[in-house]
Amino acid sequence: MKSALSTTLLLLLYSSQAIAFFAPAASLIRSTQSTPSTSYSRTTMSAAAANFDETRGGTHSIADQVARFAKAKAENNPRYLDIDSIYDGGDLSGKRVLVTGGNRGLGLAIVKELVAIGATAIVVCRSSSPELEKLVGKWNVYDGVDVVDDEAVKKVAKRIKGDGGALDVVINNAGYFYGPQELVKDDTLNFDEQLKQINICALGPLRMNNALINAKALAEGAKLVIITSQAGSVEWRSTQNKDVGGDYGHHMSRAACNMAAVLLSEEVKSMGYSVLLLHPGFNKTEMTKKYEHIWEIEGAVDPAIGAKRVLYEVMKNGMEETGKFINCEDGLEIPW
Ligand SMILES: NC(=O)c1ccc[n+]([C@@H]2O[C@H](COP(=O)([O-])OP(=O)(O)OC[C@H]3O[C@@H](n4cnc5c(N)ncnc54)[C@H](OP(=O)(O)O)[C@@H]3O)[C@@H](O)[C@H]2O)c1
Repeated sequence: MKSALSTTLLLLLYSSQAIAFFAPAASLIRSTQSTPSTSYSRTTMSAAAANFDETRGGTHSIADQVARFAKAKAENNPRYLDIDSIYDGGDLSGKRVLVTGGNRGLGLAIVKELVAIGATAIVVCRSSSPELEKLVGKWNVYDGVDVVDDEAVKKVAKRIKGDGGALDVVINNAGYFYGPQELVKDDTLNFDEQLKQINICALGPLRMNNALINAKALAEGAKLVIITSQAGSVEWRSTQNKDVGGDYGHHMSRAACNMAAVLLSEEVKSMGYSVLLLHPGFNKTEMTKKYEHIWEIEGAVDPAIGAKRVLYEVMKNGMEETGKFINCEDGLEIPW
């Protein structure tokens, strides 16, 4: 009751400061439109009027990214603000962990952290680099693999099996977010790009997980992790894309990604494999460079921090949480 009350007070307090939402395209548009705090107040008031607790009793994260970050700061929440104070990568030491898209961005940061904690990082990517090969060993880099290419994915899964297999964790991290905003009213929908995002972000992880399972490249009790996005939450669209919409291809791709992961979790739990859907938080990478102006307002972090947040959730969750959609910023669930 106390926490529900303080959350409400915090939301009211920060509603006047809410100048951007995570769905960054919306915030870009908002900055040239009506006063954002007005629309945020409307969201809060209508939610309150409906007596709706979006945290479901404290188990779920909240949609408004500005308010979420402000609340973490007001509460001095170490889980959110200082992952180093609770993170210890020891549980992954000695484990074999595959990372797709481990050549740059968040994927590379995860790979660096895996090496630092004594795990074996196996990278599947389109293009390697001397830095990457020095980091994990040339033999642990499988390049030339596009996650949209059925044959290439099947082939690499067989090679990994032949080279030892026994993957304890698979982190499907490769992803893509088309740059320009898509809006019906501007006639800027790009259907080819929409299909491309669905192919990479939704079918990509399914293709990779399918190939690794069928190649028998997984260890007993393996975890299949999918780096998805809060953008895949349908419920959160009415806050993060409120009155604006947009980003059709990217957000649809993550909703489809989430659906595939939940279906997979149901199918493979009898095989002893768990499936975890992780939103990695807001990370300062190439992908989000276009939203640099809201990085600080919305709590974006260096990918080295994002990597620890992700690995913390990888270690913490397993079969009991299979099929869940978790926010790596606060460790809480995200609604579908
Ligand atoms: N950054 C964030 O705040 C944020 C928020 C929510 C979710 N995410 C998700 O987190 C993951 C990592 O994001 P990031 O910020 O690190 O993005 P990034 O800097 O743009 O890196 C994307 C990675 O995905 C790889 N990739 C893209 N298309 C591919 C394909 N068709 N086949 C194989 N690899 C492909 C890229 O490889 P190339 O070098 O070959 O292009 C690169 O390694 C993505 O799935 C993203 O959707 C990120």
